[in-house]
Amino acid sequence: MVADDKPASTFKYSEKPVYTTSNGCPVENPEAFQRVGSNGPLLLQDFHLIDLLAHFDRERIPERVVHAKGAGAYGEFEVTHDISDITSIDMLSSVGKKTPCVARFSTVGGEKGSPDTARDPRGFSIKFYTEEGNWDWVYNNTPVFFLRDPTKFPLFIHTQKRNPQTNLKDATMFWDYLSTHQEAVHQVMHLFSDRGTPYSYRHMNGYSGHTHKFTKTDGSFVYVQIHLKTDQGSKTFTNEEAGKMAAENPDWNTQDLFDSIQKGEYPSWTVYAQVLTPEQAEKFRWNIFDLTKVWPQKDVPLRPFGKFTLNKNVENYFAEIEQVAFSPSHLVPGIEPSADPVLQSRLFSYPDTHRHRLGVNYQQIPVNAPLRAFNPYQRDGLMAVNGNYGANPNYPSSYRGMTYKPVKPTNDHEKWAGAAVMDLSEVVPEDYVQAKGLWDVLGKQPDQQDHFVGNVSGHLSAAKEDTRKRTYEMFGRVDEELGKRIAEATEKLAPASGSQAAGSAESRGW
Ligand code: NDP
Ligand code: HEM
Repeated sequence: MVADDKPASTFKYSEKPVYTTSNGCPVENPEAFQRVGSNGPLLLQDFHLIDLLAHFDRERIPERVVHAKGAGAYGEFEVTHDISDITSIDMLSSVGKKTPCVARFSTVGGEKGSPDTARDPRGFSIKFYTEEGNWDWVYNNTPVFFLRDPTKFPLFIHTQKRNPQTNLKDATMFWDYLSTHQEAVHQVMHLFSDRGTPYSYRHMNGYSGHTHKFTKTDGSFVYVQIHLKTDQGSKTFTNEEAGKMAAENPDWNTQDLFDSIQKGEYPSWTVYAQVLTPEQAEKFRWNIFDLTKVWPQKDVPLRPFGKFTLNKNVENYFAEIEQVAFSPSHLVPGIEPSADPVLQSRLFSYPDTHRHRLGVNYQQIPVNAPLRAFNPYQRDGLMAVNGNYGANPNYPSSYRGMTYKPVKPTNDHEKWAGAAVMDLSEVVPEDYVQAKGLWDVLGKQPDQQDHFVGNVSGHLSAAKEDTRKRTYEMFGRVDEELGKRIAEATEKLAPASGSQAAGSAESRGW
């Protein structure tokens, strides 16, 4: 609060608030400081200067370990089709029901200042402020991922970031990992298609990737995958255009999103579910817990149920986007995680990183705060700023009535027959089938196969020779002709000794 009892953030630009120190003491000149005489040392009593410097020194919080660069906005979700036959999620309970939300889009591997148009998957996160708690969708713009074993995530991410010695991005590390973990090949096909460089956040789709369960209060459930298809149409940059934009305007996607919303051109997405009953899932060709696979749309059609629109920019980027904290474990009654091991690991990882990045009370930060939450058994901790539940008992007291709402879990279908018993770690011929499916999809679109070969070869040519060769074999398993084309195009570009940045592995005795 400031002198006239208004919270600081409620002042309008037209008003002239009294400038003060952080403890509210009026200051005559914000640029003045106290010193002995006109040329002497400073005074420790100058709280204004010390307050200002000390706060400045602490302006940075840890950036997200992945998905550090991003942009976001507010919006709403509207139910367009009845879906109450398969879920009792309150937000989806009736056609026309609207729910407010905040969204954040991001690149994955780069730091907070990295260019928006880098070849990378894009994060696609939404936090819905529902009547029964915050429900987060922490999705990507690709329907699959590089791995299906959660232990591999930190190892894989390291290879997409910087070499520990050179501090440079390293093509050999990048392709060494991918060519020795070939379950990644389907996602690699997505990443090196032109969809790996979307024109803007508005022009890309979002996919849950993971299988979830939609549940009903009678205990029944179905398996679902969620798709958000852009109403603006899918639009991409070529590799050359993306590179040029990275140099000319590294914040292009951030600017495009902000400007379009500011102009009243609100981007929207049509939201669909693919649905399988437990019985169908058991007989399905693909393991529904395998994050490297899609559910072919001809086998499992898309069922529309909503529209998601972004219609309001934030007032303050740091407060509302840098501090927003999404988690796949922020769920509501009517949806449950599946047994997908990567999803199960993510349920832990996100709140854990939020406690590190934002503090134990991250759910109290206004952008993260649910419409209503009442948990007086969680008390105290750094930055308990919402009243800390006042005098409410901090244990289930017989003197304080509380309502405990029954929730029926549906954890009775995690035993499997058929495809699902396959050991996910083992790479088998079936792992190349959907990658080949995408290669064929690209073949039906003008120039897309040529672009793919160009996109891969430009990157792969910087890797060491044995890594390049292993990668040609990988693409050859997807499609013989594809392997040959990549080899030919890459070798034309490759310097004789491969990546200089990585240096020689042999010389380090690895
Ligand atoms: P379909 O022919 O039924 O679907 C092909 C899908 O490919 C389209 O619906 C479209 O999904 C997507 N697509 C179109 N152009 C591109 C592109 N340039 N880059 C990436 N994706 C594109 O076949 P299937 O469902 O059997 O899938 C065939 C392949 O398509 C799969 O191997 C998969 O890699 C890819 N795909 C499949 C999706 C799925 O959920 N089944 C989703 C996205 C891609 P959209 O409309 O979502 O853009
Ligand atoms: C961000 C971990 C897989 C989508 C993050 C963050 C971590 C993380 C630690 C930073 C969060 C923050 O600081 O706020 C993991 C782990 C994974 C995994 C351990 C696998 C074991 C995935 C997958 C997807 C995904 C498969 C998509 C389907 C995202 C998105 C963000 C993110 C969209 C950015 C969220 C935001 O905008 O704030 N992940 N991740 N991640 N992850 Fe993952």
